Amino acid sequence: MAANDDRERLKREAARKALELVEPGMRLGLGTGSTARHFVDLLGEKVAAGFSVRCVATSEATLAQANGLGIPMTTLDDMPELDLTVDGADEVDPELRLIKGGGGALLREKIVAAASRSMAVIVDASKVVPRLGAFPLPVEVVPFGLAATRRHMEAVLAGLGLGGRPVRLRGGEAPFVTDGGHFILDCSLGAIPDPERLAAALSAIPGVVDHGLFIGYARVAFVASADAVETRRRS
Ligand code: 5RP
Repeated sequence: MAANDDRERLKREAARKALELVEPGMRLGLGTGSTARHFVDLLGEKVAAGFSVRCVATSEATLAQANGLGIPMTTLDDMPELDLTVDGADEVDPELRLIKGGGGALLREKIVAAASRSMAVIVDASKVVPRLGAFPLPVEVVPFGLAATRRHMEAVLAGLGLGGRPVRLRGGEAPFVTDGGHFILDCSLGAIPDPERLAAALSAIPGVVDHGLFIGYARVAFVASADAVETRRRS
């Protein structure tokens, strides 16, 4: 229990640090997950005190939270260019490449990040890894042709030297359904030697909507540990 409380405190500290980037009038993307939730909470406090921003959510859950806090929300259709997105991650490597999608929101998260001039990642130090892949890589797929898409993915993984790794349908017999109506296949790869190559190979598979490798999106990461929040920038 105490360890969990400590971790929540670290997530909040990372979120508080990211809030320093937010200027009045900014157009913001709001991430998804327990760390992003802290950021939205803190932003809500600022808005309640009169701070002006306009935001787009990366999930229905975040939209509901933000609406509940009175944060002015809109859509990418009405505001297709954003100044900054703040989001969590499941893994962050030294080049600020990310694995995301543990909360199942990777597609909207990537669309929102791609519409943003900058992306800040907020994590506790446990998410920082020397190499991506210990966290199972989420891949969002359309339900139609699931078995065929999965076989295709397994063949692609084998071709990249990642054969035999479990590829599991999230939720099993009661599949998890994303906000976009898709399924998620979680790939337990152990380690990803070449994230760029894997990202390109997965994107080329029909039926794959997107994957949780975020490469070239994060400009800065705020990493909270017991002592401090460290700022890491992509060179
Ligand atoms: C959701 C995500 C989250 O940002 C990621 O899973 C981290 O979540 P948390 O902050 O709860 O650890 O990508 O799709």
